[in-house]
Amino acid sequence: MIPAALPDDAELISRIRGLDLESKVRLLTGASLWRLPAEPRLGLAALTMSDGPQGVRGTLDDPADTGLLAPAPSAVAAAWDTGLAERLGEAFATEARRKGVDVVLAPAVNLQRTPVAGRHFEYFSEDPLLTAAVAAAVVRGLQRRGVGACLKHFVANDSETDRTRYRARLDERTLREVYLAPFEQVLAEAAPWSVMAAYSGVDDGAQSAPMTEHTRLLREVLKQEWGFAGPVVSDWSATGSTVASALAGLDLVMPGPHGPWGETLVAAVRAGEVPEQLVDDKVLRLLRLARDTGRLGTPGHNPPPSAASAVPAAPGPEEFGLLREVAARGTVLLRNQQDLLPLVPERLGSVALIGPNAVDPYLQGGGSAFVPAIRTVSFAEGLRAALPEQVHLSVHRGGDSRLGAPFGSGDLLADPDTGAPGVRADFFDADGTLIGGEVRRDGDWSAYGAFTLATRRVVLRMVLTLTEPGTHRLQVGCVGRFRVTLDGEEIWSGDDDRGVELVLDSSFHHPPLKDIELYVGDEPRRVALVVDLTVVESGGYNRFVTAQLRHAPPGPTSYEEIAEAAAAAAAADVAVVVVGTNEEVESEGWDRTGIDLPGHQNDLVRKVLAANPRTIVVVNAGAPVLLPWAHEVPALLWAWLPGQEAGHALADVLLGRAEPSGRLPWTLPSRPEDVPVPDARPHDGIVDYAEGVHVGHRAWDRAGLVPAFPFGHGLGWTHWSYESVALPPEPPVSAASLTSPAGGDGLKLTVELTNTGPRPGREVVQVYLEPPQDGVDRPVRLLAGFATVLAEAGARVSAEVHVPARSFQIWDTETQSWHTPPGRYRLHIGRSSRDLRLAVDAPVGPHRVGTRC
Ligand code: BGC
Repeated sequence: MIPAALPDDAELISRIRGLDLESKVRLLTGASLWRLPAEPRLGLAALTMSDGPQGVRGTLDDPADTGLLAPAPSAVAAAWDTGLAERLGEAFATEARRKGVDVVLAPAVNLQRTPVAGRHFEYFSEDPLLTAAVAAAVVRGLQRRGVGACLKHFVANDSETDRTRYRARLDERTLREVYLAPFEQVLAEAAPWSVMAAYSGVDDGAQSAPMTEHTRLLREVLKQEWGFAGPVVSDWSATGSTVASALAGLDLVMPGPHGPWGETLVAAVRAGEVPEQLVDDKVLRLLRLARDTGRLGTPGHNPPPSAASAVPAAPGPEEFGLLREVAARGTVLLRNQQDLLPLVPERLGSVALIGPNAVDPYLQGGGSAFVPAIRTVSFAEGLRAALPEQVHLSVHRGGDSRLGAPFGSGDLLADPDTGAPGVRADFFDADGTLIGGEVRRDGDWSAYGAFTLATRRVVLRMVLTLTEPGTHRLQVGCVGRFRVTLDGEEIWSGDDDRGVELVLDSSFHHPPLKDIELYVGDEPRRVALVVDLTVVESGGYNRFVTAQLRHAPPGPTSYEEIAEAAAAAAAADVAVVVVGTNEEVESEGWDRTGIDLPGHQNDLVRKVLAANPRTIVVVNAGAPVLLPWAHEVPALLWAWLPGQEAGHALADVLLGRAEPSGRLPWTLPSRPEDVPVPDARPHDGIVDYAEGVHVGHRAWDRAGLVPAFPFGHGLGWTHWSYESVALPPEPPVSAASLTSPAGGDGLKLTVELTNTGPRPGREVVQVYLEPPQDGVDRPVRLLAGFATVLAEAGARVSAEVHVPARSFQIWDTETQSWHTPPGRYRLHIGRSSRDLRLAVDAPVGPHRVGTRC
């Protein structure tokens, strides 16, 4: 039996003592996609886990199971406000309770190492300190209300391509100082109750292994060195071994009930390959999680019901108000010439709202983080609701930015058997016998977990009636093994035999599309389409098929739409152009290969600007996109993937009801060739972190390049004068405390600043540490602390900024410990990484840190 590590462990250990090996091992693999096994003999209830960082999806995989859809994490980080992030964490906890969820699979603290990373929107920042501060706040909010966080994806899973196979190769200092740093800081500050081991692997020189098997990082660093006492959960279907993963420190294989542990692990324990004590330790960690989430009862009795026994009410105005506040406050005002913003509604006669994302906003990123929203407020709806009635608002797409046409629906599709609207699906077993079927109304035919074991094939049949004369574009999207015929003739087939990989690379919701052009003359044309799909067996993700039927009728070209939008802009008092990415661009499962705006959006902005100089551009994207006209437009806002309250938040900002007080949590490049890490993909199975500790803004500083907008940049409704900075008169820390294990203590700076503008405002005071450059490869400057303050017009305020000791330290690979090289450290205080207003020296001698202003 394992020795008790924590004060309350003795009682938990005594519970485990009575259990046989098989029963203990059974607890270490999920019972289903989202549930863990229950064990009444231990008083253990079946814990439920659910994604994720944009809200709480729940476990029903049903579009009707809706919930709060928050702004994506990079938007939350852009507010640079831990108090706000904590309130969001609390709202997530209430959602989790409402949906019977005990552990939310969030936050994700991987870094935005490269702008092309597919999950960029799901991560907070390119900076480890900002990432950690915001993530710790989300964890505090969640766990304060009894819902567990699962900090993910441990570690260096910063790319998507081939994510189950690649190894991130990085040196030990980079790993410690950059990629492990947010995990370590969140654990120290907020003690999340579980951690997720990533799909990918790490080669840090000491060991090269998939993260589910990384003994050095899981067992030695996370558990032994940092004292993490909760379970390490595998990412979904990430575990590829029995003994290696069990020994390395993985505690729970998800999903289940099948997987590489079970009986094979029992046999390995019996064969002496895995000590039984290790199995006990894994069970103990799960019991701690159950206890913390209120799901551990009395042994032998019915385990406690989910806290859903007191189910919170569905979210309403209060929660919507919080999401609106987060979205508005995270919005970054990048540029505002001649104070074009905020708009004065009384002086407006007409507004032209233009752009592909004005018509179809991109509210959240794709993949496991997706939440069916309880409601959505489009940009047009939000603006209409906020503008006085007499202001005329017109909406114009200005060209298509998607490769995929809309899903076919309505009169287009008919069941060939009955003629009723829809697509007929027939289900067949292995012998080709028809065993069921259904009719669906639209051409989005994705379903997982929806088939009985007997169903092997799904055949979709439909008749399409194309009426408008001209060229119609049809698109069929399928994955796996399939055959598509049009009027009886095969036009496409697939023979991809992969299983779970088709879920993990997001082919499931993002299948390849086959384009078909059909010409229609004066008479409507009817065509028969048949899509014959083999059901994909995808392990713990169950069994699925995907087929999409998309259709674009003949219509104006993008060129014509742009001309129409420019004409509307010319006739309006002001043009608001919303450009951005969409579900084809930013998602889990793949990485981008470039950072251009999709479609003809640059052309659109230029034409609208030429038509009306009072043009405000709003970027609706999570990750950087190039804006070649950025310094030509008078007003530019970055509005992120803003979640369900998108329209209200944008209207609040445009009309000055809220201050866009966001600051960029990453650097916006102006030229593709400047991007420090332009490629996320592995080469020969390796993602090489050759840039070392010079990540994000640190790399830009090292290269001396000028970005379009620097890390930390953001204007607001007012102006600030930085008056002075002071360290406390007595040096507050000694070198000894600067090497304290958790990197605690550190320095407290007091910054005095004045709001010199005409309106109240919120300022993010940023502190960048310039370490001595004495031979050790260190960043030119690194973000070492920040604080957010509010001040009335004309008022002077003090900001207290904590600079943790860890910011001064480097990881000493020889002694395997943190170390503060002595020398002259300079602290710069400013409004962004490139707008530094004040400085103070903090010399670190062998015994103490002194101050010199
Ligand atoms: C993702 C995780 C997620 C899990 C469960 C995986 O594909 O990488 O972030 O929590 O699925 O949905």
